[in-house]
Amino acid sequence: MAEYKRAKIVMLYSGKGKEVQTEKLIKIALKEKRVVLPITNVEKRILELSEIKDYDLELKIGTFNILEPKKEFIRPIEIDSLDLIVVPGVSFDYRGNRLGYGYAYYDKLLATVRRRIPFIGLAFHFQLQHRVPHSRYDIPMHFVITEKRIIKCR
Ligand SMILES: Nc1ncnc2c1ncn2[C@@H]1O[C@H](COP(=O)(O)OP(=O)(O)O)[C@@H](O)[C@H]1O
Ligand SMILES: [Mg+2]
Repeated sequence: MAEYKRAKIVMLYSGKGKEVQTEKLIKIALKEKRVVLPITNVEKRILELSEIKDYDLELKIGTFNILEPKKEFIRPIEIDSLDLIVVPGVSFDYRGNRLGYGYAYYDKLLATVRRRIPFIGLAFHFQLQHRVPHSRYDIPMHFVITEKRIIKCR
């Protein structure tokens, strides 16, 4: 995608459970981009951002069984330096509405983005629904990508 090609700093996620896995994506991205992963701060209920440089060396299993940077490899980075954000989810719809796990971690993070950058939901095609319930707090995706299609939502 042009949006990805243009981006210099991309935020990806490390998949948990049956989410779309991203190890290969992160490793490819590390060769051509600066790559940022979230760290779940459970006390504050927010995602913190850290740049990673080496997938095999720097990550450990953290909160919710998600791979995140080890303490000694945390390199904080400002949200507004990101050029693109890839987001996991339980379900998405064709308008870009997103259902998470009910803690709104990504809604809170995306609400703080001040630049116009693409938010991209990554999911298996069966996770796409015609309509996903949403409230005024829910931040929609600009694109949803599945193994079948790239859906431009807005
Ligand atoms: N930016 C925000 N600041 C504070 N609370 C929020 C924010 N976004 C969502 N919430 C609240 O967090 C709760 C969970 O949000 P929800 O969107 O249902 O979760 P998820 O996005 O994980 O599916 C809701 O009660 C919602 O009102
Ligand atoms: Mg939400």
